[in-house]
Amino acid sequence: EKARANGASAFSFPEVEAGVDANHHVAEGYNADVLLRWGDALFPDAPAFDPTKQTAEAQRRQFGYNNDYVGFIPLEGSSTHGLLVVNHEYTNPHLMFPGIVKIVDGKISQSKLSKEQVDVEMAAHGGTIVEIRKVDGKWQVVPEGRYNRRITSTTEMQLTGPAAGHDRVKTSADATGTRVIGTLNNCAGGVTPWGTYIMAEENFHGYFSGELPEGHKEAANYKRYGVPEGGYDWANYYDRFDLSKEPNEPNRFGWIVEVDVMDPTAIPKKRTALGRTKHEGAASIVSKDGRVVFYLGDDERFDYVYKFVSSGTFNANDRAANLDLLDEGTLYVAKFAEDGTLQWLPLIFGQGPLTAENGFASQADVLIETRRAADIIGATKMDRPEDIEPNAVNGKVYVMLTNNSKRKADQVDAANPRPDNAFGHIIEITEDGGDYSATSGKWEVLLKCGDPAVAEVGATFSTETSKNGWFGMPDNCAVDSAGRLWVATDGNNNKATGRTDGLWAVDTEGDARATSRLFFRVPVGAELCGPLFAPDDETAFVAVQHPGDGGDDWAGHGRPSYYEDLSTRWPDFKDDMPVRPSVLAITKIGGGKIGI
Ligand code: FEO
Ligand code: CA
Ligand code: CA
Ligand code: CA
Repeated sequence: EKARANGASAFSFPEVEAGVDANHHVAEGYNADVLLRWGDALFPDAPAFDPTKQTAEAQRRQFGYNNDYVGFIPLEGSSTHGLLVVNHEYTNPHLMFPGIVKIVDGKISQSKLSKEQVDVEMAAHGGTIVEIRKVDGKWQVVPEGRYNRRITSTTEMQLTGPAAGHDRVKTSADATGTRVIGTLNNCAGGVTPWGTYIMAEENFHGYFSGELPEGHKEAANYKRYGVPEGGYDWANYYDRFDLSKEPNEPNRFGWIVEVDVMDPTAIPKKRTALGRTKHEGAASIVSKDGRVVFYLGDDERFDYVYKFVSSGTFNANDRAANLDLLDEGTLYVAKFAEDGTLQWLPLIFGQGPLTAENGFASQADVLIETRRAADIIGATKMDRPEDIEPNAVNGKVYVMLTNNSKRKADQVDAANPRPDNAFGHIIEITEDGGDYSATSGKWEVLLKCGDPAVAEVGATFSTETSKNGWFGMPDNCAVDSAGRLWVATDGNNNKATGRTDGLWAVDTEGDARATSRLFFRVPVGAELCGPLFAPDDETAFVAVQHPGDGGDDWAGHGRPSYYEDLSTRWPDFKDDMPVRPSVLAITKIGGGKIGI
């Protein structure tokens, strides 16, 4: 059943034509300016980017790879001066290092990385905190910014909360079980109401190799998380990524990391109270009674939607009083009932099935094995939960479910209604009493994604949605200060859709509900991350991730492409420059709010 839209849209801009080519495209009347590229200097002493002479030392002073989450922390309440915080999710060695990919017997083959290249990869992961300022309508990086900082896979971190210090997180390098080296695969994230930066650790399994010792007690735990996947060469040079040598190390990843951006020497904290999953992100909002609520997706087929409610309350007048709010609270997992109601089930040691009989001896066990706790308690298995954003204007919560090609016809339920869900869907939650900390609520499907012209797909975009306006694979989303929903995608970049990923404006209210239109699209091979609106809605920051990946035949994310034969050289378009993941700032020509 398609919504009947009569044009009462909250958005007004000339739609971009969907398609695919070497460049990005933004709606007419807007500028999309490159603000930060992989390798750009973040400090006055940072060396200029030279792709032929990459070193970890240089990379630690430069913008990292594969920008994903983008947040903005105003300085003195400004919409035009603040700290941009950006996650660097992962690395694409075939696009970073000249000559490591070759054609051998007609097949693409990638050589093993050297230790120096692995060190560059580790320094290209993590996050960036950088001061930015808008001058005469254009955003600039401030390399002298006193808060500028790179966080990487070798930055010292602290485990805090109920799982800190537990035997299962101790290693030969850390007998205390509290000091971790680095963060991995930071996908989406968040900025807390007290202005700290949240980096969510997502696909941490990919960095581990080797085999656990025979009969090791973590075997079932690691199987549930797909550890090890062995997608990186890091274990060749660092024993902590080899399960046979350091079997507890994977328990120290998969957490929500909080960074105090106001102190560049602050040790980032892995907040174990928020659970250990493949965390997509952690958007937050203050509930009516002052407790802080974080919405958390676990991005895997048949995994879950979570939320965390702090025990303490937010103090708007005392920033320091909030800095350990994330160490105490309740982690809930969602059960979506067939009748459109929703229950948030608490994951508390000793309650319900979370007891010693089921292998949980403490809250630390419940948190280290969050997924197994959620399995046992009977949560709803979802179609890959990605970004989840509360909307402070209409009181609802939007859940991006990107796809699930493995869901069989006998596994569908009301909240995951399509078998072989290739294009994903979006769920809208209304918490009971309009209270984000409520333990029950209602839900409905806002949108089943995909091409409405293909009847079998069953997409539910409104009839007002043009052929450019539909999308599949919702991943990141943003709500602007007017409460309007913007959806960024990961996976449209292939021959089947005839379009790249991009940023779509999606109506949620009134007759225009489920109408979508294309505002920005990425170059071939890329996905779109970020999106984030400055507090005055006059800038949209977008993160173009892995441009040129699989770009030769634009066959999609993760396919082999190689350095010497890219079908795009975005954003520099120079023969001696590789593709560079970059954050862009989109502004209206002549100024004004975006999309109005
Ligand atoms: Fe890193 Fe779930 O996207
Ligand atoms: Ca994502
Ligand atoms: Ca978001
Ligand atoms: Ca993604």
